[in-house]
Amino acid sequence: MPMQALPGFRDFLPPECAARNYVFANWRNVARRYGFIEWDGPVLESTELYRKKSGVEIVDQLFHFVDKGEREVAMRPELTPTLARVVAAHEREYKKPLKWFSIGQFFRYEKQQRGRLREHYQLNCDIIGEGSLAADIELIALVIDLLRGFGLREGDFVVRISDRQFWTELLRNQGVAEDKWQEVLGVIDKSERESPEQTAQKLGGLAAPITKVLAEGGENDRLREVTDGLRGRGLADFVSTDVRIVRGLAYYTGIVFEVFDRAGKLRAIAGGGRYDNLVNQLSDGAASLPALGFAMGDVVLGELIGETPAAREQMESAISAERAVQVYVIIAKEERRRDALAQVQLLREHGFGVDYPLIPMKVGKQFQTAEQLGARSAIVFGDEWPNVGVKNLGSGEQKLVEHQELLSHVERSLTKP
Ligand code: HAM
Repeated sequence: MPMQALPGFRDFLPPECAARNYVFANWRNVARRYGFIEWDGPVLESTELYRKKSGVEIVDQLFHFVDKGEREVAMRPELTPTLARVVAAHEREYKKPLKWFSIGQFFRYEKQQRGRLREHYQLNCDIIGEGSLAADIELIALVIDLLRGFGLREGDFVVRISDRQFWTELLRNQGVAEDKWQEVLGVIDKSERESPEQTAQKLGGLAAPITKVLAEGGENDRLREVTDGLRGRGLADFVSTDVRIVRGLAYYTGIVFEVFDRAGKLRAIAGGGRYDNLVNQLSDGAASLPALGFAMGDVVLGELIGETPAAREQMESAISAERAVQVYVIIAKEERRRDALAQVQLLREHGFGVDYPLIPMKVGKQFQTAEQLGARSAIVFGDEWPNVGVKNLGSGEQKLVEHQELLSHVERSLTKP
């Protein structure tokens, strides 16, 4: 049996690589439009970083081992703890608020299922050092525009917005001790995937007030302010207030949100929220900054693009426009190979994507290759020398060009990538 990739890990063959590049380019483009700058951290961190802050679910899913220096290390399952660590160490070097984005690969030992793998890519966008709801609104506008950048519309996805403070207030009013909140929030987080009976059983004495809110919905002034801010930007149709969202990660403290496909068939496309205490906790009080952010994964996003015709067409045309080869040089007479290669070199030096047959080949086959590579133009070196034939592979139009004029002819007829 030929060797295969490990379960939950992907091989990126050229079509998948092209799709990945397309996703990354759109992510970068929109994040920059919002004034975010790029950063990155290491893929391997001390296991302690996640034990301290991510919550039990993620710690159970760690790919972790002891390295040769006897350190307990883990492949990063998410970026937020690294961000908090880096910000605590370097925040003084930057003006606040920081608006940082990052694109990288993350690893979680999850049960493999649709939309869930053991590695995935995320775009993370975080704002550090701003406590007002204006930052929450800005971040949610960004997540919406990122998805719109892929040709997705309000009929395709929805941002479900909630507030952890809505729940912590309710728990405080019910007299629940603060060290129990996390556990109750965990049950609420899972409630959509479990039966009402299971949820009620886990909630015990709190079942009545909580299941009532889960069934009927809830709101507070902060949530109204966020939706109102988004309405002012013309983005109200993309969001809904939904207190059933609490997020599985332990560090969130305020507004939280998750993005889903409208049809509700897929897992979450993105999720995030405010985590005002994390920087403080990770730096043992050395730095204290309010923070908020989200991550968008490539796996579910890819599924939604694939299922949405307008988004799929946009991706396909962007990918074919990105193709490297613009010109295919056809060597119809082997005596002309040397002259042809001099022109290949010249065109490449001037920024054009050019390919040609490495070994002698029938002319028909060479034209076939040119078509398969998506070349826009074929240049034939043969009997007409010192002229060469230039064929536009889109329109079929052909003309003869003096070989010394070839570069300026190509420059006029093709734009560089
Ligand atoms: P998260 O909800 O754990 O949040 O992950 C964010 C997104 O990454 C998910 O919505 C999903 O699309 C994708 N994702 C997560 N796990 C997998 C998986 N096993 N396979 C495929 N895709 C996956 C966080 O990671 C937070 N650190 C986000 C954040 C940033 N909060 C504040 N700043």
